[in-house]
Amino acid sequence: MKALTIVPLTKDSTELVEFPEPQEAEGSVLVETIAVGVCGTDIEIISGAYGWAPPGEDRLVLGHESLGRVLSCPEGSGLASGDLVVGIVRTPDPVPCYSCGRGEWDMCRNGQYTEHGIKELHGFCRERYRANPDRLVKVDPTLGILGVLLEPATILAKAWDHVERIGNRVTWEPKTAVITGAGPVGLLGALMGVQRGYQVHVIDQVTSGIKPDLVAEVGATYHTGAIHEAIEEPDVVIECTGVPSLVFDAMEHVGPGGVVCLTGVSSGGRSISVDAGELNRYMVLENEAVVGSVNANATHYEMGAKALAAAEKDWLAKLITRRVPLARWEEAIRRQPDDVKVVIEIGSI
Ligand code: BGC
Repeated sequence: MKALTIVPLTKDSTELVEFPEPQEAEGSVLVETIAVGVCGTDIEIISGAYGWAPPGEDRLVLGHESLGRVLSCPEGSGLASGDLVVGIVRTPDPVPCYSCGRGEWDMCRNGQYTEHGIKELHGFCRERYRANPDRLVKVDPTLGILGVLLEPATILAKAWDHVERIGNRVTWEPKTAVITGAGPVGLLGALMGVQRGYQVHVIDQVTSGIKPDLVAEVGATYHTGAIHEAIEEPDVVIECTGVPSLVFDAMEHVGPGGVVCLTGVSSGGRSISVDAGELNRYMVLENEAVVGSVNANATHYEMGAKALAAAEKDWLAKLITRRVPLARWEEAIRRQPDDVKVVIEIGSI
């Protein structure tokens, strides 16, 4: 079968290769892949900046945002042939640490977790894969291809969940939220903010194209520029770009008792000048919280699935701006100005 692979930390190593069928040892459920989403992490891996191959192997199969169909599964697995499923990206560490031991693998303490298509586990950008039932999430069949948005939705479901838990450490009546970045992650974050009753402001750079419309259609307000120009003292900022200046803009301008959640994994090596004393003073005097958030556990997959189920399907469909067949993968990883979510089609829905 075909699989899209890279040699980790090696630029220009992406190749569609002939790859062995999945082994029984990989899991009791055989899944045919329908589609794989391309995200910023994939682009970083492809650029040679991130990623780990499975131990003893040179190449890593790409793809951690997926949608597949069950081909076969054991009796009593809770799954049936034909079910649409999404593979859970992260597998708990083998020790396990106390977080992984309790199903909170997104909070892994020892860094020995593995991630499909990212860290030491082959990804889903191949025609078939195997997994155990507890590593698969069943998707509402009416979502169809939109099920491929579940994994990015889980990232935002976790971010919102943690933001609200932290905010609710005291009496908290949040009304306004800023989301930085109108890519798929930011747009899904905006959707969930609106669903939670916030007045949501989304900040991005572009002034034309589909993004401002998508923001308006979900019920949020689109801005370019700095956070305080969009709204004074928001209760929540969810930073989805990883751009250092925006990270500090968020910390400087979130409102009293507010929560800033950082979800963008930025690459190092970029310095900016910050008045650290002033920032510290503001954060202390305003009881501000800043939290980083990565990955997602099973509860976030449930939350993400609910958010997608409650969203307008027409709006979700517009997030998928290009569908590219596996054989033409090069087009999928070449960014185009109007891209929101690009998916690689591997099987048919
Ligand atoms: C994925 C997460 C993963 C993170 C870090 C993100 O793109 O969505 O599941 O934990 O990258 O590897």
